[in-house]
Amino acid sequence: MKNFKRILSYCRPYWWRIALAAVASLAVGGIDGAIAYLVEPVLKKIFSGKDMMIFSLLPLGIILLFVVKGVCRFTNDYFMRTAAQLSVQDVRNELYRHNMRLGLGFFTRHPTGTLMSRVTSDVTMMQEGVGSIVSGIFRDTFSAASLLGVIFYRNWELALITFVVIPVTAWPAQKIGKKIKAIAKLGQGKMGALNSILQETFSGIKVLKAFGLEERETEKFQRTNAGLYATLRKSIKYDALSTPIMEFIISFGVAAVIWVGGTSVMQGRMSASEFFSFIAAMILVFTPIKRILNTYNVVQRSLGASERVFEIIDEIPEIADAPDAVDIGRVKGEIEFRSVSFRYDDDYVLRDVSLQAHRGEVIALVGPSGGGKTTLVSLITRFYDPLEGSILVDGHDIRKVTLKSLLGQVALVDQETILFNDTIANNIRYGKPGAADAEVEKAALAAYAHDFIEELPEGYQTNIGDRGLRLSGGQRQRICIARAILKDAPILILDEATSALDTESEQMVQAALNNLMANRTTFVIAHRLSTITHADRIIVLEKGGVAEMGGHETLLANGGLYSRLHGMQFRE
Ligand SMILES: Nc1ncnc2c1ncn2[C@@H]1O[C@H](COP(=O)(O)OP(=O)(O)OP(=O)(O)O)[C@@H](O)[C@H]1O
Ligand SMILES: [Mg+2]
Repeated sequence: MKNFKRILSYCRPYWWRIALAAVASLAVGGIDGAIAYLVEPVLKKIFSGKDMMIFSLLPLGIILLFVVKGVCRFTNDYFMRTAAQLSVQDVRNELYRHNMRLGLGFFTRHPTGTLMSRVTSDVTMMQEGVGSIVSGIFRDTFSAASLLGVIFYRNWELALITFVVIPVTAWPAQKIGKKIKAIAKLGQGKMGALNSILQETFSGIKVLKAFGLEERETEKFQRTNAGLYATLRKSIKYDALSTPIMEFIISFGVAAVIWVGGTSVMQGRMSASEFFSFIAAMILVFTPIKRILNTYNVVQRSLGASERVFEIIDEIPEIADAPDAVDIGRVKGEIEFRSVSFRYDDDYVLRDVSLQAHRGEVIALVGPSGGGKTTLVSLITRFYDPLEGSILVDGHDIRKVTLKSLLGQVALVDQETILFNDTIANNIRYGKPGAADAEVEKAALAAYAHDFIEELPEGYQTNIGDRGLRLSGGQRQRICIARAILKDAPILILDEATSALDTESEQMVQAALNNLMANRTTFVIAHRLSTITHADRIIVLEKGGVAEMGGHETLLANGGLYSRLHGMQFRE
C-alpha cells in the first residue's frame, strides 16, 4: 500500500489530465449503462411493432451513442496514458539523478547492467501498472457501477445473486495477484542479470574474442535467458489462470440468474424484455469487473518492479554534502592528509598516512602495484571518505565543503581513460562545459593532441564512438589530458597519465604538463620513475603505508625501496 501510494504521488502533477480522463470515463460508463437499459424499451417496441417512427430513429441513435462513446473513450485513454507516461518519466529522471548522487562504493557493489535494467525495464514495468490503474480503473468502475444500477433497477432480487458472485471472484484474484507480484520482482532481477551479461559482453567483446570465449558466454547467456523464461512462465501461468477461474465462478452466478429469472418469466412475474435487459446488463457488467481484477495482476507486477526502483531511490548516498557545507571557492591548493586510514573491505589499504602539499608543488606517488596510490588520490576527490583522520584543502576539512565546489577545484586524469560517445571537441569540453572552440583547441595543443585530431576525417567534430574505441591508447590519454588542461583547476591529479605514450610524445606531453603544474598542486602517480625525478617530493607507498618520503636525490641516497626500484628501471 505504501509503494502504491508512492507511485500515485508521482501522478499528482498531472492531475488535470487524469481529471479530464476521469470525466470522460464517467461518460463511457454511463453510456454502457444506457445501452443495457435501452434493451428493454427497444425490445418492447419490436415485439409490440407499433411505434414505427421511434423504431426507425433507433439505428441513428445507436450510431450516435457509439460516436459519443468513442470520443469519450479516446479522451479517457489518451489523457490517462499520457499522464502515466509523464509520471513515469519523472520516476526515471529521479532514478537517474539519484544514481548520480551515489558514491563510487555503490557502483562497485552493483553490476552496471543491473543498474541499467532498473532504469529501463523496471521503470517500464512500473509504468504499465500506473497506466492501467489510471486508464482502466476509473472507466471500468464507472461502467460496472452504472450497469449494476440497471441490474438493481430491473430486479433487485436477481441483483443480489450478482452481488454474491463479485466478492467470491475477487478472492482468487487477490491470491493470484500476490503470487504475480513476487514472481515479477524475481523476474526483473533475472532481467537485470541478463542485462549485466549483455553489458559485459559488448564492452569486453575484444577480450571475449581474443580468448575464444564466444561459445562459453553464449551458453551463459542462454542459461540466464532460460532462467528468465522459467520465472516468466510462472507469471504467465497465473495470469492465464485468473480469467478462467473467475469465469468459472461467474458461471454459477449466470446460471443462477437464468434459472431464477427464467422461472419468473415463465410464471409471468417478469416480462421477457425486462429479463433480456437484465441479462444484457449482467453480461456487460462482468467485462469491466474481470478487467479490474486483471488490472490487479498488472498492478501487482508493477509493485514488484517498483520495489526494485525504490530500493535505489531510497539508497542513501555515502558521500553527500554536510548540512552546513560551505562553498570552498577558488583554492590556493594547500592539501594536508592528517593520519588518514582507509580500507575498502577488511584490510587496510592506507594506514596512518600524513602528508602536506603546498601550492605549486609536485608530489609523486610511487610504489608497487596495489600499494594504494590510486586510493590515496581518490580520497582527495571524495570518491571515498577516510575511515580515520582527515583531509584538508586550504585548511578546510573536505567533508565540510560542498562536493561540487571541491570537485570544481580538482582536475583528474585517471588511470582509465574515460571517453564518451561524442565528438572529440565535446569530450575535451567535459573539462569545462561551454568552453569556446578556441579554448578547446588551445588545450589540445598543450596536450599534444591537436595534430592527430586535425588528421581525423572530421577533425574536432569526429565522433569517437563508445569509450573512444576508435582511438589509440595514447591518443585517448592525450584527450583526457587536454580535458584536464581545459579545466584549469588549482589541484591536478595525474594517475598514470602518460603511461600509454611513446617516449617522444611522453616527453612532449610532460613538458606541457610541467607548464600546467606551475602554480598548482599536483599529485603524479607514475610507474616510470624517469617521469617524476623532478617532483618536489616523492612518496613511496607500500602495503598501505608511507615507506619513504623525500626528494629524488635523498631517496636514492637512502638506499631503500625507491633506490631499488630506480636501479631496476635504469638497468633496463
Ligand atoms: N573499489 C575497490 N574495492 C575494494 N578494494 C579495492 C578497490 N579498489 C582498490 N582496491 C584494493 O585496494 C588496494 C590498493 O589499490 P590501488 O588501486 O589504490 O593501488 P595502486 O597503488 O593504484 O595500484 P596500481 O599501481 O596497480 O594502479 C588493492 O589491494 C586493491 O585490490
Ligand atoms: Mg592505480
